[in-house]
Amino acid sequence: MHRQYLHADTRTIAYYDSAPGNTSAKVAVLLHAFPLAASMWEPQFKAVPAGWRLIAPDLRGFGGSTIDHEPESPSMDDYAGDVAMLLTELGVTSAVMGGCSMGGYAIFAVLRKAPRLVRALVLVDTRAGADNLEGRANRRSMLAKVDRQGASGVAQEMIGKLIGRTTAEERPDVESSVRRLIKQQDAAALRGAIRRMMNRPDSFSTLKAVTVPTLIVVGEEDTITPVAEAQKLAEAVSNAELVIVPRAGHLANLEQPKAFNAAFSNFLSRL
Ligand code: MLT
Repeated sequence: MHRQYLHADTRTIAYYDSAPGNTSAKVAVLLHAFPLAASMWEPQFKAVPAGWRLIAPDLRGFGGSTIDHEPESPSMDDYAGDVAMLLTELGVTSAVMGGCSMGGYAIFAVLRKAPRLVRALVLVDTRAGADNLEGRANRRSMLAKVDRQGASGVAQEMIGKLIGRTTAEERPDVESSVRRLIKQQDAAALRGAIRRMMNRPDSFSTLKAVTVPTLIVVGEEDTITPVAEAQKLAEAVSNAELVIVPRAGHLANLEQPKAFNAAFSNFLSRL
């Protein structure tokens, strides 16, 4: 995976692009989860379906993307605006929009801000509801943890939740690479993302208006956004297909890449 860079004013948006400059391929955009970065999509970049071009940006401050200054009230719209700007710069007028967890929240904002960009949806281990009171309190303690311990504290708290039980038992390599990736993330990016997730609205009405083909994927062992959340997504979207990935947790694409890639390429082949 080779990182590309878009320099926009005083900011840099880093992204992976499986076929830079290829204007004839169909495009699928993949947005990463919290507290990771675009490299979480490496197993998908290793198996890009023929005729497709994958683009995976690092959201603001994550991976190789920088933050200039954060707005007073950071929102998912900021991420959506960055994605729209990147696609415009690359000359992409519509794409399959895929996102894992927080990446899914950002896609709901793209649906509100720039619906014409979306030709199909891939929602991976995500949910449409906003945070409840308990969820917001957890975000506040996570913010305090970032202040005290930076990315290492976040890694310690989240790793056991992100990775499914089977992966934890059978694939320590996946767990250690996810832990490493989290520890590399910048505290400002983590803070910005936590505040954006806390502020995000309920997106069920956005989803109910969706008419494009939609693939919903969830790891059978996901405890952050369990199968029941994916079922709610599938009920909200009129044209949705739900795939439950066995033996995977919250990072289904990384934990069970073969099963994920099969569902993903099968879906793309019908577009
Ligand atoms: C993520 O995986 O992106 C986050 O865990 C989602 C969340 O905390 O709501």
